[in-house]
Amino acid sequence: MYSAITTSNENGILLITINRPDKLNALNKTVLDELNTIIDEVYSNNSIKSAIITGAGAKAFVAGADISEFQGLKHSEGMHLAQKGQNIFRKIEDSPKPIIAAVNGFALGGGCELAMACHFRIASDNAKFGQPEVNLGLIPGYGGTQRLTQLIGKGRAIELLITGNMLNAATALQYGLVNYVVPQEELLTKARTILEVVNTKAPLAVGRCIKAANAVFDQSQDGFIEEVKLFGECFATQDMVEGTTAFLEKRMPVFKGK
Ligand code: COA
Repeated sequence: MYSAITTSNENGILLITINRPDKLNALNKTVLDELNTIIDEVYSNNSIKSAIITGAGAKAFVAGADISEFQGLKHSEGMHLAQKGQNIFRKIEDSPKPIIAAVNGFALGGGCELAMACHFRIASDNAKFGQPEVNLGLIPGYGGTQRLTQLIGKGRAIELLITGNMLNAATALQYGLVNYVVPQEELLTKARTILEVVNTKAPLAVGRCIKAANAVFDQSQDGFIEEVKLFGECFATQDMVEGTTAFLEKRMPVFKGK
């Protein structure tokens, strides 16, 4: 069904692997289209509770947008490409089911942007992050200028954007760009271990946590007002009744996502 990504669902955790290792998993049109389709599937498929995005091979998560597809593009086509990438990455960011990046090597350009659109990031110790678009006469177009600034602050972000320098995993951890750095062979296990815990929680509450946290960066709304609204909505769920009842009855809750 897919040609540039692979997927496997293990106990509700969907592993999405960008699979162009000979091109360091660069994001060409096919990868973007297939990512768009699989994220729709994450939203709609009840057997998926959360997802991990990673790259095939030991060298790269994603080494950027596919540079070979840039040549010959006009002004309007450049805008169209950026809008398309931003729409897909926004869908990842807005997903009510957690999507985390397991960064197993180079996360450059669109690869860094993809990782930053995920809800959080875990890196292997060989990971390298950067926005090297200035080397190509470009700037990031899939949300990188915005999310990098949100995640590591303006001064560090602008330095990275205008030098094109790469951050190693240890510095990415120090900057808060990633939550953990682990040996490469432990990367997926670490990601799965976290999601196994998340998948025992009330799914609607998990989704509302993500939505409320995202509201911080949405200038069209007041995040505190959004939190009040989302908190109130929880009281209309069966899972809230189950969670509070189970606590008082000193037993484990059984959540249904309702
Ligand atoms: N787009 C298209 N192809 C890419 C690519 C990208 N972003 N990144 C790597 N590739 C391809 C290379 O062209 C090469 O293909 P080939 O074997 O057919 O020649 C293959 O992937 C391996 O990459 P290579 O450059 O030989 O590996 P390396 O170990 O010498 O260098 C990098 C690794 C990541 C430093 C280097 O590939 C690089 O700088 N990539 C581009 C990063 C970038 O600018 N990203 C932002 C794009 S907007």
